[in-house]
Amino acid sequence: MSENIRPESMARITTPELAQAFINDQIAALKAQIGEKKVLLALSGGVDSSVTAALLIKAIGKNLVCVHVNHGLLRKGEPEQVIKVFRDELGATLIYVDAVDRFLDKLAGVSDPETKRKIIGKEFIDVFAEEAKKLEGIEFLAQGTIYPDILESVGVKAHHNVGGLPEDLRFELVESVKFLYKDEVRVVGKALGLPDGMVYRQPFPGPGLGVRCVGAITRDRLEALREADAIVREEIGKLPETPWQYFCAIPDIQSTGIKYVDGKGERYMGWAVVIRAVNTVDAVTATVPEIPFAVLCKMRDRIVKIPGINRVLWDISEKPVATIEWE
Ligand code: XMP
Repeated sequence: MSENIRPESMARITTPELAQAFINDQIAALKAQIGEKKVLLALSGGVDSSVTAALLIKAIGKNLVCVHVNHGLLRKGEPEQVIKVFRDELGATLIYVDAVDRFLDKLAGVSDPETKRKIIGKEFIDVFAEEAKKLEGIEFLAQGTIYPDILESVGVKAHHNVGGLPEDLRFELVESVKFLYKDEVRVVGKALGLPDGMVYRQPFPGPGLGVRCVGAITRDRLEALREADAIVREEIGKLPETPWQYFCAIPDIQSTGIKYVDGKGERYMGWAVVIRAVNTVDAVTATVPEIPFAVLCKMRDRIVKIPGINRVLWDISEKPVATIEWE
């Protein structure tokens, strides 16, 4: 286990200079470990896998093969950003897998949260393994494991942790950021030139919007959630101090709305979007920050324009008794 204990001599990476020294060391170490061989990486676009990818691109260039699985539960613009940054700007070898239908078909009618998580996790590994099997000459598997993952080892990342891969795909591991804490990963990401939107991303659960589209996921409710989430991220993101995590959930309930057609009121059923913003240190407990009422109203006015939505709620529940996510 000693190879999984952060060396005491390792200084905390807090400045661009320290980050650059870490990057230089890692590039040399990666070149020595990998040589001319090929490395496979599941690139979600989260900060950990993105920093891992950027380091490997600097070290081995095209011999890093990134696989980005779009399971349909990502936030608005995320798959596009991964392609833009890694394929277009950094010149990475990137395989983009559109697995949206496959995931949503498997999830159709499933309302139990843990079953949903298991389906997403298993499907992710299956899709990744299928892609890996098509490739030739892969000898290493890179993972964006960070130090808290090792310390906690009960991976909230379990679904993205490709440890569940079939035997013939269990390559030698490359884990360049495994001794870094989250804040250090961000400093390194910044020094590597990754965009702020990637480096300072708020935490996002592996099962993504899947656990925020409460109950059985339907495509229309999921799309409404994705739009509302983008609005909330944009508006709350403008505050001088942003909460630790802010997002939307969409419960599987409808309530009565009214719209006026030619001056005549018509009642109809629509969904309610829930705005959630929390502050926490370790996600074990969480408090609810004040959001200026004008900002809440601005979000409401934009969210009710999304087809199917007729109500906007603000979740002021703390953890405990509520969890941060709705599922
Ligand atoms: P809860 O809802 O348990 O969330 O208060 C605590 C933190 O964990 C995140 N979370 C997850 N992350 N896979 C993940 O990778 C998951 O299944 C998952 N469930 C919750 C949540 O976003 C919050 O930051």
